[in-house]
Parts: sequence; structure tokens; C-alpha cells
Amino acid sequence: MDDKKIIAVVGATGAQGGGVCRAILQDVGGGYRVRALTRNASSDKAKELKKLGADVVEVDIDDVESLKRAFHGAHGAFCVTFFWDHFSPEKELEEAKNMADAAKHAGVRHVIWSTLEDTREWIPLGDRRMPTLMEKYKVPHFDAKGEANRLFSERGVPTTFLLTSFYWENLIYFGMGPKRGEDGKLYITLPMGDKKLPGIASGDIGKCAYAIFRRGREFLGKTVGIAGDHLTGAGMAAALAKALGQEVRYNSVSPAVYRGFGFPGAEDLGNMFQFNRDFESIFCGARSLVFSRALNPSMQTFESWLAENGGRIPIEEASLRASGE
Ligand SMILES: NC(=O)c1ccc[n+]([C@@H]2O[C@H](COP(=O)([O-])OP(=O)(O)OC[C@H]3O[C@@H](n4cnc5c(N)ncnc54)[C@H](OP(=O)(O)O)[C@@H]3O)[C@@H](O)[C@H]2O)c1
Repeated sequence: MDDKKIIAVVGATGAQGGGVCRAILQDVGGGYRVRALTRNASSDKAKELKKLGADVVEVDIDDVESLKRAFHGAHGAFCVTFFWDHFSPEKELEEAKNMADAAKHAGVRHVIWSTLEDTREWIPLGDRRMPTLMEKYKVPHFDAKGEANRLFSERGVPTTFLLTSFYWENLIYFGMGPKRGEDGKLYITLPMGDKKLPGIASGDIGKCAYAIFRRGREFLGKTVGIAGDHLTGAGMAAALAKALGQEVRYNSVSPAVYRGFGFPGAEDLGNMFQFNRDFESIFCGARSLVFSRALNPSMQTFESWLAENGGRIPIEEASLRASGE
């Protein structure tokens, strides 16, 4: 066994964790080893990580004992939950508690907790600007993550709280790419008005996280926000048009219209975009581009991400379901 520091990575076969694993594995002389955590060590993605040099260990974040074993002997742990797999903020809270308990038990020296804002600090439940969802949340997939921050702090787990941004991969995998309108033109639909949305290439989250681990104690107990670009809907449409070689227009809808689109999570995302829009300076301010680039000099912009990935964005030919305010 060498004396490299072990980083245990939750969600290693996914977007965020996969990026952390690759960032560490690519830095061969960097002094760190990857312990890639997955529910299934025999999956193709797990085998690929093993081939790249990771130790692959099975874990289920719903099982605290498996987490304790997985974190044993690790210097660092990258912790993330998977809201869109189950749509349950309560489950995220339970899973964050499991990870915090396991990190405490194993004496992990540096946890990075992939979190988001508890929007209720800005929009209390009684605020009628947006509906309350699931009885006690405004933006369920944000609020529980923010609420879970204290689970790490209260246990005295040395933690960096990492605020991530909207993945541009959502245009490929989450049905958020341009759709063709009845007029035959392409439209990207967002309820952001003329406000800016911080976005990121999901792989850059891993590169930033690795940089945070490498900077050691500097970011312990701190909240760190990252983004590759802050763009308006019109700005995103212009960049998409350039990359796709055809006109793309911004279809600016109200958050209420967006909430009514009816796909799973539409209400949650409608509230999220409204929060991003109405608290633009706070939301963008927490995700400085200068800071992000200092952490990860190869941070992609939307334009550079599109140059690599534009061809993977599916163009939906179905007509828009709603447009305008
Ligand atoms: N989409 C966005 O724009 C965005 C932006 C910011 C934050 N987020 C947040 O990012 C989180 C998801 O992260 P991600 O995008 O990296 O996820 P992801 O790509 O969907 O990956 C999830 C991975 O986690 C593993 N996993 C799932 N359930 C598990 C469990 N119970 N125990 C252990 N491993 C489990 C799965 O691997 P195995 O099958 O190999 O176990 C899977 O590969 C969400 O909570 C979301 O709110 C998303």
C-alpha cells in the first residue's frame, strides 16, 4: 500500500462523483487515490473506473454501516445525494445524516458536501410569491440539501459546503434543450426573464472539488460556489444558435407557466428558476466566475461546452406546449 491519501467518492458512476474520480485519476502524481463508491461494482461504469485505477467499493447511502466501511481509512469524502432518483427531500436528509455520521465515525479529515441553498431562508413558507411544495419546501431539491448542512456542522465533521450550478448536460439528458415551435423555429424555454442563470459543465464540478481537497484546510467550514458562466436565457439562445448553426430564440415564460408544464419535477424546477431569477445577485454572487476559474483554470464556458457537446443535444420537433407570459 502506498502513502497516497484516499478520497472516497459517493456517486462515482454519476455526473458529479464521476468528475471527481476522473480529476483525481488523471493527476497521476498528485498524491491521492480514488475509492469509487457504487451500489454495483460489476456495472460497466464501475469496471471502467477500476480500469482507470480506482478502488471500487460497494455502498448504499441508505445503509450507514456500508458507508462507515466505505469511509474507513479515507482522508477525504465527496458526498452527494440523488434527488431525481426518488424526489424525496426527507430521504436526502436521511442520506446526508448517514454520510455525516459515517464521516464522523471514520474520522474523515475533509468532507465536501455537494449542497444547494435552503431557499426558505429567503422565501419563508408563508411567502406567497411561489407555492409551498410537499407541505414544507419551496424548492424541495434545494431546501433539503441546504437544511442538511447543519448535519455535518453539528457533528464537527470538517466540511466544505460546495454550491453547484445548473448542469448544461440538462440540455442533453433532462429534456431542456431547444424545441421547435409551431413557426418552425427553435426555442429554449426558461422562466428567467432577463436574469442570469449560473451554469456549469458537470465534469467541472469534479475538477473544482479535487482542487478544494488539494487546498487542504483552506476551505474547511466554508461555503464555496462554482459556475462556468452566468447567462441570460437570451444569451444561452444566442450561444446555442451559433453552435447549432440555426436560429434559436429564447421563450421567456413565467414561473407559473413553467410549473404547469406537468413533467415530473416541473413545480420544483419552476420554483427553482423563480428563486434564481428573483435573487439573481445573491445566487450569481455565491458562484463567482473569477473564483471558479482560479480553482479550476480549465473551467468550461457555455460556448466551449457547446463546441464539444452541441452535437449531442437532441432537437425536439414537438411543438411548444406554452409560450409567453
Ligand atoms: N442536474 C443539475 O443541473 C444539478 C445541478 C446541481 C445539483 N444537482 C444535484 O445533483 C444530484 C445528483 O448528482 P449527479 O448528477 O452526480 O447524479 P447522477 O449522475 O444521477 O449519479 C448518481 C449515481 O449515484 C449512484 N447512486 C444512486 N443511488 C445511490 C445510493 N442509494 N447509494 C449509493 N449510490 C447511489 C448511482 O450509481 P450506482 O448505480 O453505480 O450505484 C448513480 O450513478 C441531485 O441531488 C441534484 O439535485 C443537479
